[in-house]
Amino acid sequence: MPLSRRRLVASLGTLATPANALGQPPSSPQPVTARPAGDPARTARDEDFWRHVARQYRVSDDFINLENGYYGIMPTAVLDAYRRNVERLNSLNSYLLRTTYKAEADQIRQRVAVTVGAAKEEIAFTRGGTEALQCLIGGYRNLRPGDAVMYADLDYHSARYAMNWLQDRRGVDVVRIAIPEPATRRAILDTYTRALEDHPRVKLLLLTHLNNITGLVPPVQEIVTAARVRGVDVIVDAAHSWGQLDFTLPDLGADFGVFSLHKWMGAPLGTGFLYIRKDRLADIDRAFADETYPDDDIRSRVHSGTLDAAAVLSVPAALDFHQALGSAVKQARLQYLRNRWVQQTRDIEGLDILTPNESAAYGAITSFRLGGHSSEADNTAIAQYLMEHHGIFTVRRGGPVRGDCVRQRRRCSRCRISSTRSGRRFTPPRVDSARAEL
Ligand SMILES: Cc1ncc(COP(=O)(O)O)c(C=O)c1O
Repeated sequence: MPLSRRRLVASLGTLATPANALGQPPSSPQPVTARPAGDPARTARDEDFWRHVARQYRVSDDFINLENGYYGIMPTAVLDAYRRNVERLNSLNSYLLRTTYKAEADQIRQRVAVTVGAAKEEIAFTRGGTEALQCLIGGYRNLRPGDAVMYADLDYHSARYAMNWLQDRRGVDVVRIAIPEPATRRAILDTYTRALEDHPRVKLLLLTHLNNITGLVPPVQEIVTAARVRGVDVIVDAAHSWGQLDFTLPDLGADFGVFSLHKWMGAPLGTGFLYIRKDRLADIDRAFADETYPDDDIRSRVHSGTLDAAAVLSVPAALDFHQALGSAVKQARLQYLRNRWVQQTRDIEGLDILTPNESAAYGAITSFRLGGHSSEADNTAIAQYLMEHHGIFTVRRGGPVRGDCVRQRRRCSRCRISSTRSGRRFTPPRVDSARAEL
């Protein structure tokens, strides 16, 4: 149906003012403007302020969600912006995509780039971290048969699969390393340095800034430097860290990076981006020889096809919310919440907390292993038990060479804590009986 003149003019009015189109609807809840000035560590403990922040999320009361390692829900201001963008996209159909969308998306790209500490020409939107990882790993051009690539047990599973794929496609060897447990930043750096020394044919290293299994944060910049002096390129996977930790790209020192916007930045699902340092663009292939953009445009390194443009158009609302809160304050609060349970449980015998006390080594996520239970079945049973008996939703994670674990924790009333001469001892419920009860 052709657009009537009136409707066309009305639509153009909206399109001509993207700021208005993307702005907060009048019914939006009060945004986070009341952030107390001063030390983020003090703000982290200001419960009045955090109650105000919490009111800006609609969260189900049906269970206690301690599982935020998949994606992050949107604050209501972002949800409202997203709804409006969905309606706009749906009413205009391809008209939006064929007229102003590209220019609008490019303005958003500029804003994301400035926020992450890059130039606009150094980032390209993807549908999330996985797509960014696949484009960079699959497109990396400097591998020859006989070279090697390296990753660790705590890297993201889809990234590990993509690295394995290089074996057949490029004829390279795959070197797999294990992050030490218990971990310290020094021990992690030593592990990587030693592995790079032991495997001089390695040309490409995958390195996760904050992994989704235990939540451990390695000393990324030091590892990138150690790799660079040995002629090894590093793809830094910051899908989980951006929005959770307070950093920008120069803090990582990476030439290649991977980011999610739908995790800790609170943007709608289907948003992320990849980063390629300007002078390294030639080292990544165009995506499947796509000719949509010229070779010197980073957007030629990914082609997602027709995607949810409403999600991309809502990214500014997410950045508004994130910036009003401030990444230093966010990190301080998330670490404070993590410390509250870790500090009370660290010395309990039978409970292994899988991130160390060094504050640079963790964010919000921390996992535990109970009484040496390291099988998939046991950890699945523990997670199910927490849900069934305590309404706590969390998940088993696999991957570590030392075995599976549970991401996040809350005290469970069936677990016993007793005092012994050497400290407190933790006795979990018998996993078999917990499983039998489910
Ligand atoms: C460390 C890490 N990298 C990459 C990804 C993939 O990101 P996305 O879900 O945005 O595809 C995830 C997802 O959880 C992750 O935890």
